[in-house]
Amino acid sequence: MAKKIVALILSPRELGNCEILVKEICRNVSVEHELQLIRLTNKKIKPCKACYACLVNGSCPLEDDFISVAETMASADALIVATPTYFMGANGMVKVFLDRCLQLYPATFSLRGKPVINLVTAGIKGEAGYSEMMLNSFSLILGLKLRASEVFYGALPGEIFLDNDEQVERAATLGESLFSDQERSFADWACPLCGSDVIQLLGQDRIQCVVCRNYGSINQDGEKVELKVEINPENIFFTKEQFNRHGLWLQDMKARFMRLRRKLAVLTGGYADQGKWL
Ligand SMILES: Cc1cc2nc3c(=O)[nH]c(=O)nc-3n(C[C@H](O)[C@H](O)[C@H](O)COP(=O)(O)O)c2cc1C
Repeated sequence: MAKKIVALILSPRELGNCEILVKEICRNVSVEHELQLIRLTNKKIKPCKACYACLVNGSCPLEDDFISVAETMASADALIVATPTYFMGANGMVKVFLDRCLQLYPATFSLRGKPVINLVTAGIKGEAGYSEMMLNSFSLILGLKLRASEVFYGALPGEIFLDNDEQVERAATLGESLFSDQERSFADWACPLCGSDVIQLLGQDRIQCVVCRNYGSINQDGEKVELKVEINPENIFFTKEQFNRHGLWLQDMKARFMRLRRKLAVLTGGYADQGKWL
């Protein structure tokens, strides 16, 4: 049976770089497949209201396209997420969509383990900022299996492939990797647990991976940089067990709120009349 690839396109530009990049990658997927594209910027996705109704009674009161997009993603064999860089970050719809994923907690989390390729396009070399990190964080929180994460450069629609064999070749390699059995290999300077190369220095040799939030150390021996990172048991999203444990913590919020609500109302009430709302 043909595999289903679902691509989330975070660019409003039709036939822009994100769109043609996804299509070029899929031209190089050798297994029989069907490509379904969702232009997330055309969907109605309202921001999470933090009402926690999804955790309490299992459904979100917001009516929009979220569920249909989430269901399509859950029905995929593999995902591709492609965003343009806007002022150093991914398109804000990535975050709006991710915040709404809180409601997926009570249900079986059917995205876990699906292969994903994350793609960023940017107009100027070196100016993609934290876009890639945003996508990698998105897939880690949803429990997706990151096959690859890459940035492609080009400002005008289509420019990523204009006289640029290197980027065409990279797209082909990505296509070959989507359903490959080969484990992803990481650079020496990347986090050995999640592959991110965005590391926060904590002083001396201590570091924290900004994407998977595990802690470790950095050592340099001549030219060679070595990162050692261990799973942080306090983490809330890295392993399946941590994820489930956090789900239980969220479930317990209702009971905690009922226990503390009078005290909290007194505390917050003290701020009620301050300032003028516009
Ligand atoms: C509002 C806006 C902000 C942008 N900010 C950046 C930026 O910070 N860095 C960068 O390299 N390119 C930036 N760009 C350029 C786009 O990332 C680039 O043109 C990309 O290829 C667009 O992909 P698309 O064709 O799929 O829309 C920006 C474009 C727009 C519209």
